Amino acid sequence: MPNRIINTSGKVRNLILKLQRNEIPDAQEYREVLLCHDRNAVSLLHEAAREASVRRFGNGIHIRGLVEITNICRNDCFYCGIRRSNGRVTRYRLTRSEILGCCRRGYASGFRTFVLQGGELPDSADRDIAGLCSAIRSEFPDCAVALSLGERSEEGYRMFREAGATRYLLRHETRDPVHYSRLHPPGMSLSNRLHCLDMLKDMGYMTGTGIMVGSPYQSIGNIVDDILYMARFRPEMIGIGPFIPHRDTPFAGARRAKAYSVAGGVEDACHVPLPEWDAGEMTLKLISIFRLMFPDAFIPATTALATFYPDGHERGILAGANVVMPNLSPPSVRDDYSLYDGKAAYGAESAEGLDELRIRLEDIGYRILLSEA
Ligand code: 5AD
Repeated sequence: MPNRIINTSGKVRNLILKLQRNEIPDAQEYREVLLCHDRNAVSLLHEAAREASVRRFGNGIHIRGLVEITNICRNDCFYCGIRRSNGRVTRYRLTRSEILGCCRRGYASGFRTFVLQGGELPDSADRDIAGLCSAIRSEFPDCAVALSLGERSEEGYRMFREAGATRYLLRHETRDPVHYSRLHPPGMSLSNRLHCLDMLKDMGYMTGTGIMVGSPYQSIGNIVDDILYMARFRPEMIGIGPFIPHRDTPFAGARRAKAYSVAGGVEDACHVPLPEWDAGEMTLKLISIFRLMFPDAFIPATTALATFYPDGHERGILAGANVVMPNLSPPSVRDDYSLYDGKAAYGAESAEGLDELRIRLEDIGYRILLSEA
C-alpha cells in the first residue's frame, strides 16, 4: 500500500497547487482527493486552506446572528424536520416585534449581521418580510440583513432587496436533477432552485449556496458536480454541513442504510454508509477545497457541523471556515426549529454562549470579530 499512499498524497498536493495557482482542476482530480483517506494528505489540505483563510482574514472569525423567524414551511423536503408533512412540529412564526427584539439583544452583544432564516412562507408573506427588512435596516443602519427563506418569486426577492436585504443564502443541495428528485417531492425542481440563485446574483445580492454532505443517495460523483457547479457560479458565501437524519422524516433511518440500489453502478449511485464515508470528514475536506477555490468567500462552520462534532466550530475553522452563526432566536422556539435530530442551539452555538465561543476560538488561536457587518 505505501505506493498508493504516496500517490494519493501527491494528488492532494497537486490539487492544492493548482487551486493556489488559480488553475482549474478537472472532475477526476477532485474525485481522487475526495476519496483520499490518507490522514497526512488530508491534513495538508486543511493546512493549506487554513493558511489561505488567515492570509485573507487574519485570525478573525466573522459572527452572524441567526434568527429562525418561522418553522412554517410550504415545502416537503424529505430530509428536513420542518417539512410540511411533519405533523409533530409545533409551528410558530415570530412577530416583527419579537424579531426586532432578537436583533436588539444581538446588537447589544456586538452582532452587526442578522440572518433571518425560516421555512418557506406563502407568497403573501413577502410584504411582511420586506417590511421586516426595512424595520431592521432603519433601527440598525450599520447592520447587514441576510435572508435564508428559500425559493421566492422574482418580485419577492426584488422587494426584499429594495427593503435593504443584501445577502441571501439558498443551498442548491445537489447539482444532479435525479439526486435532487430523490431528496424533494415532485413539485420541487432543481431548475427552479438554480433559477432562484441566478436571480439573486443578478439582483446584486451577496449570494450563498451549498450542500448537505452525506445526504441519502449522494455519490462522490454528485459532490464533484457540486464543486464544478460552484466553480462556475462563484458564490460569495458557502454553507456546507453533514446530513443528520430527523426522526420524523422519510430519511429517519438513513444513516443505518446499507446501500441504495439504484441502476448505474455502485460508486456512482449508492449512499456509502458511515463510517467509510464519513460525512463530517467529507464536510471538512469540502470546506478546505472551497476555501482554496474561493479565498474571499464567507464559509461558516455550520450548526450541522457543530451538531455532528462537539468541537465542530473549531474543526471547521481549522479547515478554512471563517464564519460562525450563533443562534439569536428566542429560547422558547429553538427546539421547534428542528431541521434534524439533536440540532445544536445552545452553548457556543447561541448568542448567550458568545463568551464560551470566544474562549474556545482563542484556544485555537482565533478571535471573534464583532461590530462588523
Ligand atoms: N441534515 C442536515 N442539514 C439539513 N438541512 C435541512 N435538513 C437537514 C438535515 N436533516 C439544511 C439544508 C437547508 C438548510 C437550511 O438546512 O441544507 O438548506
